[in-house]
Amino acid sequence: MSVVKVPDAGGDELKLLEVDGHLYPPSSVDVIRGIRDLPIRDDDVFVCAYPKCGTHWVWEMARLLLSSDIEAVIEKDELMLEFIGNDVIEKFPSPRILNTHCLVEQLPRGVFEKKCKIIYIIRNPKDMAVSFYHHHKKLPFYEYNGKWENYFPLLMDGKVDFGSFFTYLKDWAAVGTTHPELPTLTLVYEDLKEDPLPGIRKLAKFLNCEKSEEYYLKVKELTSFKKMKAAKGTIIQATDGASVMYRKGEVGDWKNHFTVAQNELFDRTYKEKMAGCDMKFRYTV
Ligand code: A3P
Repeated sequence: MSVVKVPDAGGDELKLLEVDGHLYPPSSVDVIRGIRDLPIRDDDVFVCAYPKCGTHWVWEMARLLLSSDIEAVIEKDELMLEFIGNDVIEKFPSPRILNTHCLVEQLPRGVFEKKCKIIYIIRNPKDMAVSFYHHHKKLPFYEYNGKWENYFPLLMDGKVDFGSFFTYLKDWAAVGTTHPELPTLTLVYEDLKEDPLPGIRKLAKFLNCEKSEEYYLKVKELTSFKKMKAAKGTIIQATDGASVMYRKGEVGDWKNHFTVAQNELFDRTYKEKMAGCDMKFRYTV
């Protein structure tokens, strides 16, 4: 358990935290170790995803659907298990929309006992990869300044916080079998980009808080990339002032980064690592 500096293919280092054999962002060991023991309430809701798959976006949709104060500016990071200690989370009023990038078995024990609702988000992993690269470069605590071509092998090898996305995707794809007791709604980033309204309606139904079409349109408007960036884009900033969590919000930015060789390697590795796991992603909308 310690701070580790993971070198990329060019020698630039990514600063991470290793706790019990797993890699995390540089947070606190006590906070990470405390996750399993967080006291869980019946009405806690969880938003789960591998990093950069749209957690902030969907968290905000859920907040607007469940909240009585739609004007409040709260960021999902205030309820992120990997960064916020249990003592702070315990003070939050219900319903709490907790969020995490951890694997299924790393969720708080109480989630399984209370059968909490889980909103799980997936995004095509090529756009996720590009987004994660910018995330690592922009967030000062990673102290990372590597080039995309040197970062790419690091991500493919899972030497990043939360580990291999192949492992993560397979773990969560099986949640219906490994934990059939957990009510889970899967939302797809690209589907939400194409049209957020069906996703917002599904989410409201799943959370048992159905509202008028007019309200759903309001949620769509307030959770547009532009509105969210304007409202919250300065909460987490890069050293140059750029917004870390609201970068481009597009489908297909991977085409501006992946070389032909990287794309081929990605497709080959994906096929090999995800054999037997039937997931289809949309790389364009
Ligand atoms: P990009 O880096 O491709 O722009 P997470 O919230 O899981 O960290 O994911 C961040 C990604 O979601 C970023 O992707 C960010 O721009 C995008 N995002 C955030 N809010 C969004 C919104 N309202 N609509 C679409 N994409 C959004």
